[in-house]
Amino acid sequence: MTEQNDLIKGVFVERRNAHRDRRTKQITKAVFPVAGMGTRFLPVTKATPKEMMPVVDKPLIQYAVEEAVEAGITDMVFIIGRNKRAIPDHFDKAYELEAELEMRGKKELLRIVQEVIPKNINCIYIRQPVALGLGHAVLCAEPVVQGEPFAVLLADDLLDGVPSVTAQMSAVFRERQCSILGVENVPREQTGSYGIVSSTPLTAALEQVDAIVEKPKPEQAPSTLAVVGRYILTPRIFHHLRQLQPGAGGEIQLTDGIAALMQEENLLAYRYDGVRYDCGDKLGYLKAVVSFGLKRPEFHDEFAAYLRTVAR
Ligand code: UTP
Repeated sequence: MTEQNDLIKGVFVERRNAHRDRRTKQITKAVFPVAGMGTRFLPVTKATPKEMMPVVDKPLIQYAVEEAVEAGITDMVFIIGRNKRAIPDHFDKAYELEAELEMRGKKELLRIVQEVIPKNINCIYIRQPVALGLGHAVLCAEPVVQGEPFAVLLADDLLDGVPSVTAQMSAVFRERQCSILGVENVPREQTGSYGIVSSTPLTAALEQVDAIVEKPKPEQAPSTLAVVGRYILTPRIFHHLRQLQPGAGGEIQLTDGIAALMQEENLLAYRYDGVRYDCGDKLGYLKAVVSFGLKRPEFHDEFAAYLRTVAR
């Protein structure tokens, strides 16, 4: 009888899990807003998107795409702006270059070029005609996202995490099935550069968000927990972004859309495990180049020795 009971219980648990699996959504789409003006990096951004700036030998956008691929994401949606060619060209097949490398027997370089984008990945490009702000850029993705939860990655925040920060956040999403903001603590004098959340801790890494404000002055900030360039959002965000009028800086702010979203849906903040380099800022970018350069075994020792001679 006990055996039979166990069997019945087993069948019941299996059915319940199958039902759960059907309801459990996974993140398969990532949106990369790359249509900003990048004014802090002029003149380099005059003709090139900021996200094409290299860190050692890969552009920032490639690091972000690799992060998304590691999270199991297969559809990459790029919101491109006025310097619109460089990013699609980077992820496109380069027939002539590949033929040339093949002819010269440069197998390793050929592999590097071919692996820029894995074969099962779809790249989709949408034009943001005018840089009306991050919220507007995300709204441009609506026709492709089509009612699915999705990740947003700002490639100028270069995140070094194992597993990748988007993979960490996708795992949290699988369990919690709600919107999640990637967050980290920043010095109080820097709150004016970020969306800042006020929140209640749930676990060591997860917080329940109670409020979110865009770029508060240090003395008005509800906390020092800052939203960085990683989000997982439910498609309901589009409804709220559509209603928005330009906010801080005359732009349609993603933060304002998220503030409206959290009035009707659960919103979590996730303290990711990893190191962030703010490559939208010159000093942050230089730090990234040095740190990623030092990670390369082929020239680590020589580069470290060189840095010791020049850094005084
Ligand atoms: P930023 O706030 O860093 O603005 O955008 P920016 O224009 O790129 O750079 P600065 O401040 O002038 O130097 C955050 C992210 O949102 C994208 C940017 O490409 C960047 O990845 N973005 C911003 C858009 O795609 N469209 C916009 O209208 C604004």
